[in-house]
Amino acid sequence: MFNNELEVTLQKATADQMKPKPDQNSLGFGQFFTDHMFTMRWTRRQGWHEAAIEPYRTFAMDPAAMVFHYGQAIFEGMKAYRGKDDQIFLFRPQDNFSRMNQSALRMCMPRFPQERVLQALRAMVYLDQEWVPKTSGATLYIRPTMVATEPALGLRPAEEYLFFIICCPVGAYYSEGFSPTRIYVEDTFARSVPGGVGNAKTAGNYAASLKAQALAHDKGYTQVLWLDAVEHKYVEEVGTSNIFFLIDGEVITPPLEGSILPGITRDSVLQLARDWGYPVSERRITIDEVLAAGRKGTLQESFGTGTAAVISPVGEFCYRDECVQINGGTAGALATRLYEELQAIQFGYREDPHKWRVRVG
Ligand code: COI
Repeated sequence: MFNNELEVTLQKATADQMKPKPDQNSLGFGQFFTDHMFTMRWTRRQGWHEAAIEPYRTFAMDPAAMVFHYGQAIFEGMKAYRGKDDQIFLFRPQDNFSRMNQSALRMCMPRFPQERVLQALRAMVYLDQEWVPKTSGATLYIRPTMVATEPALGLRPAEEYLFFIICCPVGAYYSEGFSPTRIYVEDTFARSVPGGVGNAKTAGNYAASLKAQALAHDKGYTQVLWLDAVEHKYVEEVGTSNIFFLIDGEVITPPLEGSILPGITRDSVLQLARDWGYPVSERRITIDEVLAAGRKGTLQESFGTGTAAVISPVGEFCYRDECVQINGGTAGALATRLYEELQAIQFGYREDPHKWRVRVG
C-alpha cells in the first residue's frame, strides 16, 4: 500500500538512552550509531503502519523470518553533510528513495511513500544533528533498509516487512582516503548476470561479492573490478562503486543495462563532466581496451564513484599477470576536480545548479 498520509510518531531518547559521541577524528566507517532510528511495518492487510522515530534499539525477530532464508533485503546509502554556517544537507535523497522503490519492485517487496519517509528522515537527522560530524570530510551516513519479517518457509514473496533507517557518523570509506586504490580485475567469479538482480541494491549482491573481495584483499588489493558474467570481458563495476575511465580525453563509464547499480554519484559525475564540456560516453568497454589504453599511455585516469567511496581514484589495475599503473599511481586532475566540486556542493560551499541539495531542519 502506498500511503503518503502515513502517521509518524516521535519518541525521543531519554538521557540514559543517549550514547557518548565517538572521537570525530577516528570514525572509520559504520561503527557508531546515532541515538534514534526510523521504523515502520508493512502487512498485506494494513499496508505501511506503525511509523516511528524512536530511540535506537535492537530487534527481536522470528527465526523463520523470511529474510533469513530467502534474502529479501534491500538497502540504500546516503549521507548528511554539515556545511557552511552549520547548515545540514542531504544529497539527492529523493533519488535514493526512488532507487529503493525500484529495488523493492524487483525483489517483490512493497513500495513505500517516499515523500513521507523523506520528511521523517529530515526530522530524525535534525533530532540527531549533534551526530553530524564537524570535522572536514566526515559525514553522517544514512542506511535505509527493508527486510522480510513474515515467519514462513514457503518460497514466495513475504507478506510482512520491516523498514528502518539507521545513521552513523563516518570518515573515509577506504583507509587510503582520497589516495589511489589498487584494483584486482576479477576474471573467474561473477557479481551479477543478465536478467538477475545486479541493478537492485539488494543484500545478496554484496554477499556474492565477498569471496572475490577477500581473495583480492589477501593479495594486497583494495577492491575488485567486476567483469560481465557471460564473456568475462566487459567492465561492470567495482565492489563498492561504479567505475569511470578517462581515455584520450573522453569520460567513459559502463552503461546501465541491468547488471550494474544505477549510482547516484555516477549520475552526478556524468552531469558535472558534461557541464565541464568533456565528451562523455556511457558505453560498453572491455578490459582489453582499458589495458591497451594503459599500455599506449592514453588511459589518463580511472576512478570509482559511490556514496560511501565518493570519488576514489584508481592507481593500478591488475588483470591476470599484467598490471597497469594509472597517472603514475597518483590521483588525476579530473578525479580531484570532481571530488572537490562534489564535496563543495554536498557541504553547501558552492552553487547547486542541479538542485541536488535538500536542507535538513
Ligand atoms: C554506499 O556507497 O552507500 C554503499 O552502499 C556501498 C557499501 C559497500 C558501503
